[in-house]
Amino acid sequence: MGETYRDFLLDAYYQNHPTSIPEFLKVVEDIMGKGSLLELHRFCCQKYGLPKIGTSRVTYLSKFVVFKVPVTLDGFRNNDWEASLCGIGEEGTDYHIPLARSRHLPHQDIPVVVMERITEASTSDILEKLGKIPNFVSAVDSAQVGFTRKGKLVAFDYADL
Ligand SMILES: Nc1ncnc2c1ncn2[C@@H]1O[C@H](COP(=O)(O)OP(=O)(O)OP(=O)(O)O)[C@@H](O)[C@H]1O
Ligand SMILES: [Mg+2]
Repeated sequence: MGETYRDFLLDAYYQNHPTSIPEFLKVVEDIMGKGSLLELHRFCCQKYGLPKIGTSRVTYLSKFVVFKVPVTLDGFRNNDWEASLCGIGEEGTDYHIPLARSRHLPHQDIPVVVMERITEASTSDILEKLGKIPNFVSAVDSAQVGFTRKGKLVAFDYADL
């Protein structure tokens, strides 16, 4: 594993988001090389500013939606999978996991996910708003959940479900 890639994974894990566009693009280039993916990141950085990082994808924030663009090979697979899900389990049952709405927005041969923008919520945020932690939260990898604009608690990273 390259040093840049290892550092990137650590930063994603600790949610240390990038602080400079040239530095971020250099990391993408070190991991994935030059080509259409790097150019897509350059375009997104110019349009949306620096992204939030994850271990396989980064997320560019727009007003109502976000764009998830892969930064590793896993990111390609995660994006293909995530945007193909629209709900887990039947509503009203214990198996139901509400998901932030998403769809595929392929760019050339790159799978991009466009997803409704949510406000990330910690356990205490959820307790404060809902008075309890709904059961589904523990089923979501690292409890990556947040509130939609309408105040619904949903999973926003469900590539592992
Ligand atoms: N719908 C959303 N609305 C607002 N912010 C989001 C949304 N989806 C993702 N983010 C932000 O982008 C970051 C990276 O996205 P995401 O967690 O989906 O990537 P990942 O590569 O699957 O991450 P992981 O390291 O958890 O596997 C998140 O930690 C979060 O800060
Ligand atoms: Mg994540």
